[in-house]
Amino acid sequence: MVASKHGFSKTDINAVYRAIKTRRDIRHFIPGDIEPELLLRLIQAAHFAPSVGYMQPWHFVRITDPSLRKNIHQHVEQERLNTAEALDERKDTFMKLKIEGIMDCSELLVVSLTSQREQYILGRRTIPEMDLASVACAIQNMWLAARAEGIGLGWVSFFEPQVLAKLIQAPEGALPIAILCIGQVQGFADKPLLEESGWDTRRPLSDILSENTW
Ligand SMILES: Cc1cc2nc3c(=O)[nH]c(=O)nc-3n(C[C@H](O)[C@H](O)[C@H](O)COP(=O)(O)O)c2cc1C
Repeated sequence: MVASKHGFSKTDINAVYRAIKTRRDIRHFIPGDIEPELLLRLIQAAHFAPSVGYMQPWHFVRITDPSLRKNIHQHVEQERLNTAEALDERKDTFMKLKIEGIMDCSELLVVSLTSQREQYILGRRTIPEMDLASVACAIQNMWLAARAEGIGLGWVSFFEPQVLAKLIQAPEGALPIAILCIGQVQGFADKPLLEESGWDTRRPLSDILSENTW
């Protein structure tokens, strides 16, 4: 196949696929700061994401208050225990897994859906969740940019949105959807932690792709 004249150079193409393939969810961090310019670059990468109706329904709160970080961690820990109870026979395996690095990461962000989302109809009249999909795109942008920068990022979703909303004093109607742990790492594992630990495996492409009918 002939490459498109709009394509990147071979090196750049490889770099994009490399970031996609070697990105990992990170829960283990080593000490070391994140330069403010680097953090800003990552947030800028998130802000370049596509969004339904160009809604840009995201808001980032940077947590710098140590007591707030501790309160967030305590809440996540409680939710981890609640999840374990809900897992029944896989409880013990789950309890051995590390699911967050909130107290060890250098930067902590809470990402939320903005308030007054009902005003936006374009592209979400029938599927209102498209705003959530847009924020997920923003986080993925950030994740890939962080990987390229050699920085670890972990998405934590073990929390009650309303509790977290209260902790960050979010406006009425805004909804936290992610706690992002960002920091320096020892390295990036070849496989997802949930694969290494035997929790699950990546399904083959033939399982997720079909033609004309499901
Ligand atoms: C929406 C979302 C929420 C997630 N929440 C958590 C979480 O709370 N804790 C955690 O350890 N990993 C979380 N992850 C990371 C997944 O476990 C991880 O992406 C998956 O196991 C594949 O591993 P990889 O990201 O390293 O490829 C989340 C990922 C996504 C996309």
